[in-house]
Amino acid sequence: MAATSFKLNTGAAIPSLGLGTWKSGPGEVKKAVSYALSIGYKHIDGAYCYANEDEVGEGLKEAFGNGVKREDIFVTTKLWCTYHSRVEENLDKSLKSLGLDYVDLYLMHWPVPMNPNGNHERFPTLPDGSRDLVKDWSHTQTWKEMEKVLATGKVKAIGVCNYSVKYLEELLPHATVVPAVNQIENHPSLPQQEIVDFCKSKGIHITAYSPLGSTGAPMFSAGPIVEVAKKRDVSPACVLLSYHIARGSSVLAKSVTESRIKANMELIKLDDSDMKTINGYSEDLKKSGKLVRYVYPAFGVDFGFPDRS
Ligand SMILES: NC(=O)c1ccc[n+]([C@@H]2O[C@H](COP(=O)([O-])OP(=O)(O)OC[C@H]3O[C@@H](n4cnc5c(N)ncnc54)[C@H](OP(=O)(O)O)[C@@H]3O)[C@@H](O)[C@H]2O)c1
Repeated sequence: MAATSFKLNTGAAIPSLGLGTWKSGPGEVKKAVSYALSIGYKHIDGAYCYANEDEVGEGLKEAFGNGVKREDIFVTTKLWCTYHSRVEENLDKSLKSLGLDYVDLYLMHWPVPMNPNGNHERFPTLPDGSRDLVKDWSHTQTWKEMEKVLATGKVKAIGVCNYSVKYLEELLPHATVVPAVNQIENHPSLPQQEIVDFCKSKGIHITAYSPLGSTGAPMFSAGPIVEVAKKRDVSPACVLLSYHIARGSSVLAKSVTESRIKANMELIKLDDSDMKTINGYSEDLKKSGKLVRYVYPAFGVDFGFPDRS
């Protein structure tokens, strides 16, 4: 059986599978959250930036009304870039929308501070159309603010997203609290082994996002994934999600479709030969320079990802 949770460096457990909510639209996400929790999902992943946390909160409320207990589930949300110098303010906004007193995990969404007083509350731009970034505030300062909110009890753990080894090496010397999690784009077309290994060596848990390749789930048709799926008599989604569990990572799958939300709960223990097939596929892509990154916001920043493509 595949692991159902992993231990964080705080001692708490993070469920192996979470429901993603990015791009889950109005009228969809409340139902998705409530349904997922009703069938046994234990982790909901959201973010201030997704602009749907009010509805995620309605879904949580409905689930609690149907008997789900707050202490039995794990809720993650994220600090947005225009709030890097106002961490508690952004957290309070998310908590209010979610209808919660605390979240289990609060993540810095991107290590990129953006102008808090720009022409847009979430995506400020300069006259030339480029992102309006703050140059005199560092992500390491943001981390100190994240550490402060940990002390309030409104978050049970803090972590980061989209951190390369380069950025972690900048952050860690300034950190009193080592991030509990690094949430990164991760799938066989972007294995990010360097970051996975580095995080493991520092006790930072990896959560994989966009495991299906994000919108339209393009990873489903990759030959070696289909091959393993056929061999194990499961769906490609099951292989793509189980791949992370085999690597010791938790995984987030987004869907607003009930049948898919349910199907994505099927996780199996992939064996060495399955992983060899999948890893061989990743190696081949890497060698031919064909790794794929599906999520790459136009910040105009070098994140130091070794395998950007
Ligand atoms: N920290 C970050 O910067 C960051 C960035 C990106 C994502 N994330 C998190 O990670 C979550 C997952 O990533 P993602 O949303 O990019 O993509 P994903 O989970 O890889 O893929 C979602 C897409 O796959 C479809 N899908 C889901 N299950 C399926 C199934 N069994 N069969 C066929 N299609 C299926 C969904 O369609 P339907 O919904 O129409 O069913 C949707 O189009 C996000 O929602 C978010 O919570 C975090």
